[in-house]
Amino acid sequence: VGIEEAYQDRAILTKKTGAGHGLSSSSQPAIMAEMLDHLALEPGMRVLEIGAGTGYNAALLERIVGPEGRVVTVDIDPEMASRARRALKGSRAKVIIGDGRNGFAPTAPYDRIIVTASHDSIPHAWLEQLRPEGLLEVPLRMRGSDSLQLIPTFVREDGRLRSVSVVVGGFMPIRAAADDLSPYWPALNVTRADGAEVKQLLSLYGQAVRSLSRAAARRLVATACSEPRVRRVSGRSSLDSFAVFLAVTAATRQLVGAMDEHRFYAGLISRDGTSLALLASWQSISRILVFGGDQAADELVALIEQWKGRGRPGVADVGMTVSFRNGNSTIRTRWRGR
Ligand SMILES: C[S@@+](CC[C@H](N)C(=O)[O-])C[C@H]1O[C@@H](n2cnc3c(N)ncnc32)[C@H](O)[C@@H]1O
Repeated sequence: VGIEEAYQDRAILTKKTGAGHGLSSSSQPAIMAEMLDHLALEPGMRVLEIGAGTGYNAALLERIVGPEGRVVTVDIDPEMASRARRALKGSRAKVIIGDGRNGFAPTAPYDRIIVTASHDSIPHAWLEQLRPEGLLEVPLRMRGSDSLQLIPTFVREDGRLRSVSVVVGGFMPIRAAADDLSPYWPALNVTRADGAEVKQLLSLYGQAVRSLSRAAARRLVATACSEPRVRRVSGRSSLDSFAVFLAVTAATRQLVGAMDEHRFYAGLISRDGTSLALLASWQSISRILVFGGDQAADELVALIEQWKGRGRPGVADVGMTVSFRNGNSTIRTRWRGR
């Protein structure tokens, strides 16, 4: 990476899977700054970071908490941890190799825990290792989508967590081991044989696809192979805030993420696999790609209308709580004051 690239406001991939998915990166500076801001750090605080990556965010944390504070950062990948250790040489931040889902008990409790990889639940260890009134900030994959993410900052209130703010961002998934690539597997790969060549058309992600019956999954493959029609939606709206509405409101049984060779999409499927509707661009919700029947597109348009009717609620209107039972978390999301 050249100095110019390093100073751009973009994430920089530092390790990839064979298929090109990011395993580690230096996060986008703007989102790092926003997350640090929401973490309300003060000199002297004890901070745990999950996802050491390059060590850059840990260096920022250490600078903010100062000589009286303490920073511990954990990475599951020994290669990333040793790179971070080298980069943090001379700093007081401590780099640990381990599964961050267990937190790091020896130096608990922490005033702040910041997670820089995405997860779909809250491990009980994070609650246990957070001091009362402490803050936990974590990118959450919403509604089994594998992809749509919100990043709440929770305050610990006894045995539960309540969000004090939420931002939008996208982080690579938490893995169970350095060589665990399962979080990257699509739920369904749609390919077409072109002579001897197998062409990748679309990868579909999410619990909605994984939970389809075999027959419905087969129908969905046929649906996704068909040429899409474009349906126009009136009015110009950015997808940013609608994506938040989708992540909070869409049925888990219908919400999907999709990727072709160009980009990532979000949308809905019908449970019988005969229709798929994807928002055609990340910048605007004015075009929907309709594969197969109209049902999924009708439902997506109905959600857009519902969102407009409610005054286009965005990330500032989301509230989340986390409760625990037998060590398992339940995350509830609601619209504040609406
Ligand atoms: C987006 S990068 C972190 C960026 C980093 N904070 C920085 O400043 O460069 C995500 C990191 O999380 C790590 N990771 C994934 N699963 C993990 C786990 N279970 N425990 C700890 N780290 C994990 C990855 O190896 C990767 O280095």
